[in-house]
Amino acid sequence: MAQKAKLLVDKQLTIADIDNRLYGSFIEHLGRAVYTGIYQPGHMTADEEGFRKDVIELVKELNVPIIRYPGGNYVSSFEWEDSVGPKELRKPRLDLAWRTLETNEIGIHEFANWCKKVGSEVMMAVNLGTRGVSDAVNLLEYCNLDTNSYYANMRRKNGQNKPFGIKTWCLGNEMDGSWQIGQKTPVEYGRLAAETAKAMKRLDDSIELVSCGSSNVDMPTFPEWEATTLDYTYDYVDYISLHQYYGNSEKDEADFFAKTQDLERFLHTVISTCDFIKAKKRSKKTLNLSFDEWNVWFHANAADNEEMEKRPWQIAPGLLEDHYDFEDAIMVGLILITFLKHADRVRMACLAQLVNVIAPIMTEKEGPAWRQTIFYPFLHCSKYGRGVALQPILTCGRHDTKNHQDVTDIESVAVYNEENEEVTVFAVNRNINEDVTFEINLSNFEDYNVEEVVVLEHDDLFAVNSAAGEKVAPRKNANYSFADGIFEMNLKKISWNVIRFKRNK
Ligand code: AHR
Repeated sequence: MAQKAKLLVDKQLTIADIDNRLYGSFIEHLGRAVYTGIYQPGHMTADEEGFRKDVIELVKELNVPIIRYPGGNYVSSFEWEDSVGPKELRKPRLDLAWRTLETNEIGIHEFANWCKKVGSEVMMAVNLGTRGVSDAVNLLEYCNLDTNSYYANMRRKNGQNKPFGIKTWCLGNEMDGSWQIGQKTPVEYGRLAAETAKAMKRLDDSIELVSCGSSNVDMPTFPEWEATTLDYTYDYVDYISLHQYYGNSEKDEADFFAKTQDLERFLHTVISTCDFIKAKKRSKKTLNLSFDEWNVWFHANAADNEEMEKRPWQIAPGLLEDHYDFEDAIMVGLILITFLKHADRVRMACLAQLVNVIAPIMTEKEGPAWRQTIFYPFLHCSKYGRGVALQPILTCGRHDTKNHQDVTDIESVAVYNEENEEVTVFAVNRNINEDVTFEINLSNFEDYNVEEVVVLEHDDLFAVNSAAGEKVAPRKNANYSFADGIFEMNLKKISWNVIRFKRNK
């Protein structure tokens, strides 16, 4: 007999209102994200400004509220002045992060314009690698000030009369990393970030700032980096960043899917460190988390290293073009559920990245744009995961994997959207051997009925999508029962499931 799992959904047991920016993403000047990704004049779908309309449509489908820009590692030697002004005068520059040639054809104005087309806000990063306080402040004046002053006037001269009004700003990127141009020690970064933040807020106190956290959980200075840097920046910033990528190079699925246990521990450690600094400073402010780089990333690593080493200084070479398979989609779903379970502190997150570079959306230069497998769990959460995250009261079987113990077979969370009178349950069965009978107790929600059940399943864990077609795509499932507030269905082993309830009209 199949194992049984039970989820109790209670509207009183709230975690938090979900900040829509949990479904953010990221466009870096890297590989083909910008050139032949979002922008390709001459492409059959290009609009009058050279942006690919097929990509715009797919980004709109994902409904991404905020997009981080222009890096990533790229930002650490970015000279923003190169990316504004008449295009014919823009200087091509060597990008040291990815060893490519940046033409600067797309810059701040064009990107802000593209963001409008896709309905997103810009999350801007400032260069704290090779630059510092004054360049960050100048850029902020250029983007956000309506004064009669040098940089605001420069923006006007460059065709943008009204300020861009960028609300969210990242203070550098992965400044602890040896690969970062202008790497800093925690004290160096803490001092620089605090002074930059202070000056930026003096210019525009409506902005929100993100202090740079560790590049990943395995950094030797984690979490000392967070404690030391926040000691300097805490009073001036609103968030701390977290970055983490997952992979399955060992080809051990059970252990891969269990890695959200590591993610949980990562979140708890950063939250505790923030709260320790809060206590130390006797501060009333609670610092939240911006998980502004996350995804599966490992497929293309070896090829990328060779490309950068052997063929440097190309314009928009194909880099970080991971082709995601079915199991990667399951992992992305698991990560999203984990974020929702921590929606009280993880307020922003950016799926890294959005187009061509470790991305849900891919483009063919001479052909169409298409959806990778990971497109779907992100789409479902962005579409139905808005509202209030509810505490999952879950009982289910558990298993051990190579590096993880006591892993729940099911990961699940419910989101209540009061305005639309909808409840959506996201559930993954990460047991690689067995189906599980899943019961949801919704009796707390009177007069609700099943709206639809959508599943992502595949017998081949390594199935991938391509421009030729989607082997991995969601389908509706009508095989469930619902009576007296009790829902029941079979969760296939290794599956992503979206169960939507709606109040009867
Ligand atoms: O997203 C790709 C890269 O990963 C980013 O540029 C960097 O911040 C991280 O190491």
